[in-house]
Amino acid sequence: MKDMVVLSGTRSTGSLHLGNYFGAVENWVNLQDKYDCYFFIADWHALTTGYENTENYVHNINEVIMDLYASGLDPDKCNIFLQSKIQNHAELHLLLSMITPLSWLERCPTYKDQLNQLSEKDIRTYGFLGYPCLMASDILIYRADAVPVGEDQLPHLEITREIARRFNYLYEEVFPEPKALLTKAKVLPGTDGRKMSKSYDNTILLKDEGEVLRTKIMNMITDPARIKKTDPGHPDICSVYTFHKVFNETEAPSICEACKKGEIGCVACKKNLYGKVAQFLRPIQERRKLIESKPELIKEIMAKGNSSAKIKTDETMNMARKAMKINWE
Ligand code: TRP
Ligand code: SF4
Repeated sequence: MKDMVVLSGTRSTGSLHLGNYFGAVENWVNLQDKYDCYFFIADWHALTTGYENTENYVHNINEVIMDLYASGLDPDKCNIFLQSKIQNHAELHLLLSMITPLSWLERCPTYKDQLNQLSEKDIRTYGFLGYPCLMASDILIYRADAVPVGEDQLPHLEITREIARRFNYLYEEVFPEPKALLTKAKVLPGTDGRKMSKSYDNTILLKDEGEVLRTKIMNMITDPARIKKTDPGHPDICSVYTFHKVFNETEAPSICEACKKGEIGCVACKKNLYGKVAQFLRPIQERRKLIESKPELIKEIMAKGNSSAKIKTDETMNMARKAMKINWE
């Protein structure tokens, strides 16, 4: 019935924020009803840039598991698993690394960007260069048909298809070429107007509530032209307004008008928003509290997901070894 295989992953760099939710997880929740879905926590990928500080490695994994569950991923509808528990990913990564030309990895735009941007970290490593090859293994090992990702991941998906093609050409047809399911994501800026990202310290976490949430919203950067309440504002450059469009659809048009005419103050505008965001997050936070209070539920969900992932990937590994004629028996 659910015959198309859909796979996606999220790096375990900490608790999920609203940018993660609208950029990916919301879409996963919708896909789980229609397709044979595999969603996983890419903890090894987090290690490629975070290998020096592993203090929070396990904690971060648990945060992501809880946030995925809280967001509505249902272990009865999809497979939720942990990358590092499925060692077949590592074996396929090794085999694919043999056939992946260095030039494909070196010219990958995300590789070049990150080398420049993360200049405070030493990521001139073998593992970081191989990031797309590991990601290709994650995808191909489920023989996935479609991968829901944001636009930033398209270069990695392109390399995945190239690797699949090269494997199929060198040996035997084993891997379908996965296509991207581009998320029609609502792009939510961070509290400072830049892209919401942990490294900019401008996130609103799914677990933020009460004073923490209120303070983040009250400190959001608005239109700098507004000093007095009567100054006409420019909602289109204000992230508070962008949030209203997502969390407060019905009132957004009137807020836009009132802001332009200088009839509403930013403080009132933000208080209103706080109520709407808190209301949106409430059911997510209720599910999160449920799972937080039941560590055995986390274990159970992961045991189930890991075991289906293991079965599926054992099958692919057998096919791959056979195609390569490297299975010694
Ligand atoms: N690179 C992805 C990201 O940073 C995470 C990821 C790892 C992934 N492996 C994957 C996404 C496989 C989709 C499929 O968001
Ligand atoms: Fe932004 Fe609202 Fe202030 Fe207008 S009134 S600038 S939309 S916070």
